[in-house]
Amino acid sequence: MTIELLDLDHVGIAVEDLEAAVEHYRRTLGVEPAHRERVQDQGVEEVLFAAGSSFIQLLGALGPDTPVGRHLAKRGPGVHHVAYRVADVAAALEHLRAEGVRLIDQAPRPGSRNTLIAFVHPEGMGGVLVELVQER
Ligand code: CO
Repeated sequence: MTIELLDLDHVGIAVEDLEAAVEHYRRTLGVEPAHRERVQDQGVEEVLFAAGSSFIQLLGALGPDTPVGRHLAKRGPGVHHVAYRVADVAAALEHLRAEGVRLIDQAPRPGSRNTLIAFVHPEGMGGVLVELVQER
C-alpha cells in the first residue's frame, strides 16, 4: 500500500478577519474567490483562490473554541496546514498507519467541495499539520 500523491491541493492560512483577508488577496495577488464554504464540523468558514491546479485556502474561525480559533490565539495568523491531493485517502491513511505516523483522523470524513479528507498529526510530519484530500 502506497500513497498516490497527485498534487498540492491547498495551503490553509488562518486569518483573523476573513473579509479583510479576501480583500487583501484580491488587491495584492489579483485573485478572485473561486469557492466559499462554511464547514460547521471543522468550525471554519473558508475561501479558496485558485493557483494553477491548487488552491490558497483562507480560514476564518467560527469561534475561539475551534481548531483555527485556538491556532490564532496561540500562534496568530499564518500557515495552518498543507493539503496534499491523493487518489485514495483511506489507502493513504492505511499506509501512514503502517509507517507509524500519528494520525488525527483514523478514517476519511467529508471535507469542503464534496471531497473526502483526513488530517495527519504534525508530530509525525515534522511539525506540519497535513491534510489529505480526495476528490470525488
Ligand atoms: Co484544508
